Amino acid sequence: MENKTSLIAAQDVTKTFPLPGGGEQTVLENVSLTIAEGEVVALLGRSGSGKSTLLRILAGLIMPSRGEVKRRNMTLRGPNPDVAMVFQSFALLPWLTVQQNAELGLIARGIRKEQAADQALHALAMVGLEGFQVAYPKELSGGMRQRVGFARAFVMKPDVLMMDEPFSALDVLTAENLRGEISDLWQKGTFPAKSILVVTHNIEEAVLLADRIVVLGANPGTIRGEMRVDMPRRRDKNAPRFKALVDHIYTVMTNPDAHVGELPATPARRFAMLPHARAGGISGLLEILHERGGGEDLPRLASDLRLEIDDLLPTVDAAALLGFAKIDQGSVTITSSGENFAMADVHRSHEIFKEQLLREVPIAGTTLRVLEQKKNAKIGKDFLLDILDEHFSNSEAERQFQTLVDWGRYAHVFEYDADEERPYLADPE
Ligand SMILES: Nc1ncnc2c1ncn2[C@@H]1O[C@H](COP(=O)(O)OP(=O)(O)OP(=O)(O)O)[C@@H](O)[C@H]1O
Ligand SMILES: [Mg+2]
Repeated sequence: MENKTSLIAAQDVTKTFPLPGGGEQTVLENVSLTIAEGEVVALLGRSGSGKSTLLRILAGLIMPSRGEVKRRNMTLRGPNPDVAMVFQSFALLPWLTVQQNAELGLIARGIRKEQAADQALHALAMVGLEGFQVAYPKELSGGMRQRVGFARAFVMKPDVLMMDEPFSALDVLTAENLRGEISDLWQKGTFPAKSILVVTHNIEEAVLLADRIVVLGANPGTIRGEMRVDMPRRRDKNAPRFKALVDHIYTVMTNPDAHVGELPATPARRFAMLPHARAGGISGLLEILHERGGGEDLPRLASDLRLEIDDLLPTVDAAALLGFAKIDQGSVTITSSGENFAMADVHRSHEIFKEQLLREVPIAGTTLRVLEQKKNAKIGKDFLLDILDEHFSNSEAERQFQTLVDWGRYAHVFEYDADEERPYLADPE
């Protein structure tokens, strides 16, 4: 993100307001924040930390007391034409219809009536309000009113869509729906803005929506730090990484002195390399270990199996990675999971393999979750290769993929269509 074009930047912005009894209150102090093209930034802070004030300054609705706002490379001196805003309170004009409300900004821009109408209808369709153009705000539910709020901002095709707690006036379910729809629109790549800045005091909302979360401290408002959300969309609130991020941010927000920084990339093992061993080979190894009383010296095992020790090691490593065996000073011993596996009938042994695979190999779990979320229950090889490519060379990523497919099929986590090169779910729910 750092190298992307900066759309809006606050540079050392300080804002003070006069106090009624004289003197002044510093609401923001030396705040610098850049919104780059293509990113979703969440501004997270407690009530009174100056989030709305910062948003208004970036939108050019109020002026900073010190410092400046740059719009691309120009100093901003009035309302920022690159910004459209969605407010918590919807802020619709009650005497205008849904369509007229949606057209407001375009008319103010001098766009011809028919053209404005076309664009408003298009935006209303994007937010699921086809057929409601002649309704008045009072006839709509809160969720639908906020959809109008989004349509009104969408028609402007702004560089930056700013949202000030856009879901917090809605009931939980409505908020969840609308949040999901906005997130999906963004992900599809057809979003009518280049970037999003969303203000919230809801940590989950920030982690769901943002690429980057900026935490504001209060009294006066300063930027305490920021963190990236390194999870693919649509994000699963139950994923361990999601929960870890929420917990981390919660801790930071409840400890004014805590350092705000990146959450350590949880499992360094997340992309631990899968040893290139076939599941059938792992199974065979465990049976032998079981028959030999649970352990064996590696050189002896290799020679008994007429293998070079180097050829045996990947299988032993794989058994260890899956929690079925332990390697210690040249010998290998079976674990209790390994014993269970070796003694189970065929059906049960595949189940045990599946449990260990999902527990110990995160990319197997990722694959399964993605498959479960896809309507056609299939994913292309490229999707997984893209993930693996981040961590391995191209040829290694390909081998990792083959190994993952072999293990996943053995465990009945998914099936594999070799012609289409696609993992798929045999019986999607
Ligand atoms: N126009 C104003 N005149 C005087 N004080 C103001 C003005 N606008 C905001 N403030 C004060 O600035 C502080 C920050 O307000 P702001 O609305 O930016 O906070 P916020 O983080 O958006 O809070 P919330 O989560 O409650 O919306 C508050 O103490 C508020 O009273
Ligand atoms: Mg506010």
